[in-house]
Amino acid sequence: MADPTALKLLRESCPTVSVGILTADLLSLGSELSLLERAGVKVVHIDVMDGCYCPMMTVGPPFIKGLKTPLLKDAHLMIADPLEKVAEYAAAGADIITIHPEACRHPHRVLQQMRSLTNANDAARGIVRGAALNPGTPLETLEPLLDELELILLLAVNPGWGGQKFIPATFDRIARTKRVIADAGKDIVLAVDGGITRANVVEVAKTGVDLIVTGSAVFDGKAAEENAKFMLEAVKL
Ligand code: DX5
Ligand code: ZN
Repeated sequence: MADPTALKLLRESCPTVSVGILTADLLSLGSELSLLERAGVKVVHIDVMDGCYCPMMTVGPPFIKGLKTPLLKDAHLMIADPLEKVAEYAAAGADIITIHPEACRHPHRVLQQMRSLTNANDAARGIVRGAALNPGTPLETLEPLLDELELILLLAVNPGWGGQKFIPATFDRIARTKRVIADAGKDIVLAVDGGITRANVVEVAKTGVDLIVTGSAVFDGKAAEENAKFMLEAVKL
């Protein structure tokens, strides 16, 4: 039997968390990844920022390639014009590649092109194609893309930094996006990203999202493994 696809592996874990690795101690990245594995985390979130689309500049394909871990690699591309760049992230080992339609001249074409990307971890897996929307982007943006994606990522903060406050209007956006997915009759993973901490994770999980991205609530410099276990438990209502 063919190895499960990246989407199947992700689905099997949902509801779950995708832990932002850039808030980890990057000087001890190997042990930080092992800590996530021990805690039972299945997905690691890498915030790729180019300093153009997004004010901050972070990491790119070499960093992703260097993450030696069995965790699913969830690359959130906050970069301008990703059309010619997404292949590099697949080659670097990303299992999930999420682009911002706001950053694309032709978002539908970018997602269409991603259909042919090969998963560098296991060619049979394929790539989970995601579309991320900033808090100010109308949800109608998603409608023409629904046939070309497997994941929708709603940002609850404006991209650029970890540790920001969750924007409350995101609750309504989650509910409306769930309806869009249901009406389309599609198997689309719904994820939310930004400002999700111990204080609000249960409230966010109760919305029925499939995947919760969280960074600074796990890697707080004190008790990352315990934080990860807490967040994992909290989303499994
Ligand atoms: C937006 C990024 C998020 C952010 C999450 O800046 O896409 O992934 O880093 O970090 P926390 O969980 O600390 O808000
Ligand atoms: Zn992110």
